[in-house]
Amino acid sequence: MKILVTGAGGMLGKVLVPCLESRGHLVKGMLKEELDVTNYPQVIELLDYAKPDLVIHAAAYTKVDQAESEPNLAYLINGYGTENIAIACNHLDIPAAYISTDYVFDGEQNKPYQTWDLTRPLSYYGKSKLAGETAVKNHLQKFYILRTSWLYGPYGRNFVDTIIKMESEGKPLKVVADQWGTPTCTLTLSETIADLIDTERWGIYHATDDGETNWFELAKAVLSGKDTEIIPISTSDMPRPATRPKYSVLDKTTLIHTIGRELVPWQDSLQIYLNYKKEKQLV
Ligand SMILES: NC(=O)c1ccc[n+]([C@@H]2O[C@H](COP(=O)([O-])OP(=O)(O)OC[C@H]3O[C@@H](n4cnc5c(N)ncnc54)[C@H](OP(=O)(O)O)[C@@H]3O)[C@@H](O)[C@H]2O)c1
Repeated sequence: MKILVTGAGGMLGKVLVPCLESRGHLVKGMLKEELDVTNYPQVIELLDYAKPDLVIHAAAYTKVDQAESEPNLAYLINGYGTENIAIACNHLDIPAAYISTDYVFDGEQNKPYQTWDLTRPLSYYGKSKLAGETAVKNHLQKFYILRTSWLYGPYGRNFVDTIIKMESEGKPLKVVADQWGTPTCTLTLSETIADLIDTERWGIYHATDDGETNWFELAKAVLSGKDTEIIPISTSDMPRPATRPKYSVLDKTTLIHTIGRELVPWQDSLQIYLNYKKEKQLV
């Protein structure tokens, strides 16, 4: 397929583009400087010129806490910007895959969320991403919405790298132990996305690694083998501008049916990432 990826300079985009290329796709990764999704004339002109078979829309405003003080910008990029992509794709008859988030849920049901469960985002980031989902559903018939969670990987700022850095600098580690979810490596998520887009079985999917944990347990797994002290704390000990869901584990049954394989347990993905860092001498 000819695939155009938005947000190619982001943490997911930088891993997704080479992964799709390794599957034999012809991939055009667009940086923000090349394609600003809030600029509709640019979006339609570029898609018309590139004529891809699929757009994977990974560009987003992702500063969860900052969004509380600049919600209009978060909506402009995640809501209106995604609508621009969806309207242009509809006009040009191009299917699209939109990367969304577990933060569209409120985390109150204490069991894994199904794709059809009621959404109720607690933060402006979550609300703006949900606005993007609505735009995709309104304007396109052939779409994938992939909700993922707790991303980390080789590029960009992420929790796993932060823990490694803080430990190496001898900083005290206090980590929240009462928010549950599924850490997901961009390396394994990219393989999942590549499998799904081959199916042309459109719809909403939950796409994370397998299993569940909390941030404290994840930090322990990152530093396993070291005797660094990590202190578990509660969310109220570390107030942040944006409210996070307490339990945002996503049920992946329909994705597993569609791609015909199990997902990688988060512990194995973490090991893949830590080995990758060692190989590339990033640690
Ligand atoms: N990170 C997570 O934990 C997580 C969890 C669940 C879902 N997701 C979703 O996964 C997707 C990928 O996330 P990520 O972690 O790779 O985010 P990221 O590293 O912040 O990448 C997003 C990219 O989009 C670009 N961008 C921002 N505004 C844009 C615009 N107006 N037009 C075009 N590009 C623009 C950003 O450029 P600048 O950096 O220059 O602004 C950045 O390169 C996003 O849809 C995100 O909502 C992420």
